[in-house]
Amino acid sequence: MDATAISDLQSKLAMATESLQRAEERAVAGQLALEVMHEIKNPLEALGHLTYLALEEADDPEKVRSYMRLADEQLATLSFISSQTLGFAKSSPSLKPIDFVGLAEAALRIHQRAIEAKKVRLVKDLPEDLMAEAYTGQMLQVISNMVVNALDALPSDGILYLRLRKRQGQLHLVIADNGHGIPSEYIGKIFEPYFTTKGERGTGLGLTLSKNIVERHRGTIRIRSCVRPGRSGTTIMISLPLKRSS
Ligand SMILES: Nc1ncnc2c1ncn2[C@@H]1O[C@H](COP(=O)(O)OP(=O)(O)OP(=O)(O)O)[C@@H](O)[C@H]1O
Ligand SMILES: [Mg+2]
Repeated sequence: MDATAISDLQSKLAMATESLQRAEERAVAGQLALEVMHEIKNPLEALGHLTYLALEEADDPEKVRSYMRLADEQLATLSFISSQTLGFAKSSPSLKPIDFVGLAEAALRIHQRAIEAKKVRLVKDLPEDLMAEAYTGQMLQVISNMVVNALDALPSDGILYLRLRKRQGQLHLVIADNGHGIPSEYIGKIFEPYFTTKGERGTGLGLTLSKNIVERHRGTIRIRSCVRPGRSGTTIMISLPLKRSS
């Protein structure tokens, strides 16, 4: 191969590398846009539910106040997501001790309308309170994602079960449903980005993002599921250290 051919090949390679780089940048930007849309979908839905609840209970100032407080949390989440996305977040939001029982109750209240509409039976096994360090908005997002997945899988009159426990320096959160379950061939895929069985209705990012958040809290998320008729259902187990060192 002569020198001209080599330099020709080199410039072609440089062009190809550059276009590959641009394609990668576009793919990353596209992925980021999808993740952002997924993250704002729940708080927006929650705000819709909370506004509805506040209007329904307009005669009871105490209830309206509590819905507005929750709406305020959702607005804070939205504002955090947007500032983070724009890269303007000057410091990370603080990690602070939060009461997980209150957080779980808040996630349930957000989806109260869907729970009632499906006549889902809610079984709660929660202690008085359980404090652990976490990013409030992110953890609310995780519990909310799990509740939505369970509600999607549950038939009318199904059971949604929530349990919180403290054991050996860890917080254990269990969210279980007796819905249709996950076929074993899908179990290995559900944490993959974009894996969904819900067609247009699902983005397939809920579990990916939730796993990400749990791991950011140095926790683990495990799943067990069964599709056998009469015994079907899914259990999600989240473990978090009660206190993080950083
Ligand atoms: N509790 C559950 N019961 C049955 N299937 C579930 C449950 N949780 C998750 N899945 C399965 O895992 C898939 C991935 O869930 P994931 O939350 O990541 O995405 P999604 O719910 O499809 O969409 P979205 O991005 O809106 O959350 C679901 O499409 C569903 O097939
Ligand atoms: Mg989901």
